[in-house]
Amino acid sequence: MTSARVRVETLVEALPYIERFAGHSVVIKAGGRAMEEENLKRSLLQDLVLLQRVGLKPVLVHGGGPEIDRWMERVGMQPKFIRGLRVTDEATMELVEMVLCGKINKDLVATLQSLGGAAVGLSGKDGGLLRARLRRSKGGEDLGRVGEVTSVCTDVLEGLTRQGYIPVVATVSADEKGRALNINADHAAGALAAALGALKLIILTDVAGVLGEVGKPDSLISCLTTRQAQRLLSGGKVERGMIPKLEACLTALKGGAQAAHIIGGLSPHALLMELFTDKGIGTMVVKPG
Ligand SMILES: Nc1ncnc2c1ncn2[C@@H]1O[C@H](COP(=O)(O)OP(=O)(O)OP(=O)(O)O)[C@@H](O)[C@H]1O
Ligand SMILES: [Mg+2]
Repeated sequence: MTSARVRVETLVEALPYIERFAGHSVVIKAGGRAMEEENLKRSLLQDLVLLQRVGLKPVLVHGGGPEIDRWMERVGMQPKFIRGLRVTDEATMELVEMVLCGKINKDLVATLQSLGGAAVGLSGKDGGLLRARLRRSKGGEDLGRVGEVTSVCTDVLEGLTRQGYIPVVATVSADEKGRALNINADHAAGALAAALGALKLIILTDVAGVLGEVGKPDSLISCLTTRQAQRLLSGGKVERGMIPKLEACLTALKGGAQAAHIIGGLSPHALLMELFTDKGIGTMVVKPG
């Protein structure tokens, strides 16, 4: 096929998906190395602008693990994680908030604007978006200022999307006394997807999806039911950063999402490929049929 023909075919293939998804919220979480490389970041943000232009309501939730690690190392601090959650003492909390809300969030907003989109950046504190309390680790370890979402106030997001803005969420929130809490971005994205009644939660990361064996790309699991996902979690098959991702998928599905996807963000336009082509990529989590 000529390249012009391929392009036209691609548009035609996308049309039924666009019709099905138009008017619906889709929560997209991006993090890890997938956001580190300038070209990948721009391609993701271009995809978001396109989604919004064809009538979807995208909400971007971002992580920032690698950049936080770099800043911690610069000031002589050692990053530490327990089951995928960053142990967050007071000093780490201060730095997390500066990097996530100050630097990464504003950079994403500015890039979206430069790509022709309209974006507003906010943290979980803004408009009471994410209310949270201190999270206890499953093993009883002290995680410091790590929060778990107790409720979501979607008013501000709904107002923004209605007015044509793409909300960009940094997942820092506060306890009832107003003291900052660090909420894992996957967990926050799951809670937001549930509260918004989003059609989908899509998590972009630096591996192709959930791997049956960590480190073996050919062990990619392309589809999981919620029960299988629960079994993977309790059986210890997923580790570190993948734990909150699967938990977030379960939260989104419980809240009514049609599907939750974990996909590799290391190839350009992975998001559009997942949404608008017949060939899904990564891992899709669904409720049993
Ligand atoms: N079963 C598994 N399948 C795939 N990846 C796994 C699995 N178990 C653990 N992982 C790890 O999870 C990592 C992804 O989570 P990580 O927290 O590092 O990134 P992220 O959440 O995308 O980024 P950020 O934390 O910045 O938001 C992978 O790089 C991989 O090392
Ligand atoms: Mg992570």
